[in-house]
Amino acid sequence: MNTAQAQLGEVLAAGGPGLARLLERTELRLAEVAEGHGRELARHAGGTLSAGGKRLRPMLVFLCADGDAAEPLVAAAAAVELLHMATLVHDDVLDRAPLRRGRPTVFAEGGRLAATATGDLLFSRAFAELAATGSEEAVLALSAASSALARGELMQRADAWSEDVTPERYLDRCRLKTASLFEASCRLGALFGGRPRLADPLGRFGERVGLAFQMLDDVLDVAGPAERTGKPRGTDLLDGTVTLPLILARRRDPGLRELDPSLTAKQAEALCDRIAATGALEEARTDALAHVVGAKESLAGLDLPAARRHSLGLVADGVVRRYA
Ligand code: IPE
Ligand code: IPE
Ligand code: MG
Ligand code: MG
Repeated sequence: MNTAQAQLGEVLAAGGPGLARLLERTELRLAEVAEGHGRELARHAGGTLSAGGKRLRPMLVFLCADGDAAEPLVAAAAAVELLHMATLVHDDVLDRAPLRRGRPTVFAEGGRLAATATGDLLFSRAFAELAATGSEEAVLALSAASSALARGELMQRADAWSEDVTPERYLDRCRLKTASLFEASCRLGALFGGRPRLADPLGRFGERVGLAFQMLDDVLDVAGPAERTGKPRGTDLLDGTVTLPLILARRRDPGLRELDPSLTAKQAEALCDRIAATGALEEARTDALAHVVGAKESLAGLDLPAARRHSLGLVADGVVRRYA
C-alpha cells in the first residue's frame, strides 16, 4: 500500500461500513457499464477500470452526502468516475502516455482511434448515469465540469511552449482542467445526499482540494522520483506544458525562459534539476498547501456532523500526503 492509499484507507476507516458499501456498489456499477457496451469497450475500458484508481471523486460524492438516497448517489459517483476516466483516456492520447495506473494506456494498446472512441463512450455513459436520476440540476453540474475540462485542456495546448504564462493563468487552467470535477463531485453529493443548501460551499471546498491536487501533481512531475510516480521526470516539459514550478523558477533563473521543443528526455531531467535548484518546488508546494488549509477551514462554519468534517479533512490531507 502506498502512502496515498494508506491515507485513503484512513478515510475509509473513518467513513465506516456505509462508505465502504457505497464504494463497492460504485465498483459494481462501473464494471456493468464497462461490460454492457460491446466487446471493444469492455476490452479497452475494462483494463483501465479494473486496474483501479483511487476513486477520490466518488469518495467526495459520498462524503458530501447525508447518506440517504443511495441509488442516485451511486449513479452520481459512477458518473464522476466515468467522466474522470474518459478525460484520462483522452489525456493519454494528447500526452502520448505509455502507462496509466501501472498498465499500458488504451492509447498504447489500441491506438489513437480506439482511445478516442473509448473516451467518447465513457463520456456519454457518464451522462447517461446521471440522466437516469431525472435531475436536471445534476446533469447541468456535470456538464459544467465537462465543458470546463475541455476548455482547460485547450488552454493547456494554447499555452504550450509559451514563455510568459502567469501564475494566475496557470491557476485558471488547473481550476478548469481538474478542480471543476472535484467541485462537481461535492456538489452532486450534497444535492443527492439531502444537503442541497450546502451544495455551493461544499463545491468550493472540492474546488480548492482539486486545485491543490493538480498543483501537487505538477510538482511531482518535476520532483519525481520516477520510481514513485511511475513516469520519468519532466514529462510535462517534454510536451511543452508550462506548470507552476517552471513559471516560478523562471523568475529566479531567466535562463529557463525558453523551452526547447527538441528537448530529449535526458535534457528534461537536467532541466528538472535546474528548476529544483531555484527553490520553485518548495514555493509551489507551499502555494498548494495553502489551498488545502483554506479548504479545510471553509468546512468549519458548515452545518455538518463532526465525523463528516473530519473525513473530508482527511481527504484534503490525503492530497498533500500523497506528495509528502
Ligand atoms: C490523475 O487523477 C489526473 C489528475 C487530475 C492529476 P487521479 O490521481 O485521481 O487518478 P486515479 O483515478 O487515482 O488513477
Ligand atoms: C490530468 O492532467 C488530466 C486532466 C485533469 C484532464 P495531467 O496530464 O497533469 O495528468 P497525468 O499527469 O497525465 O495523470
Ligand atoms: Mg497527462
Ligand atoms: Mg501531470
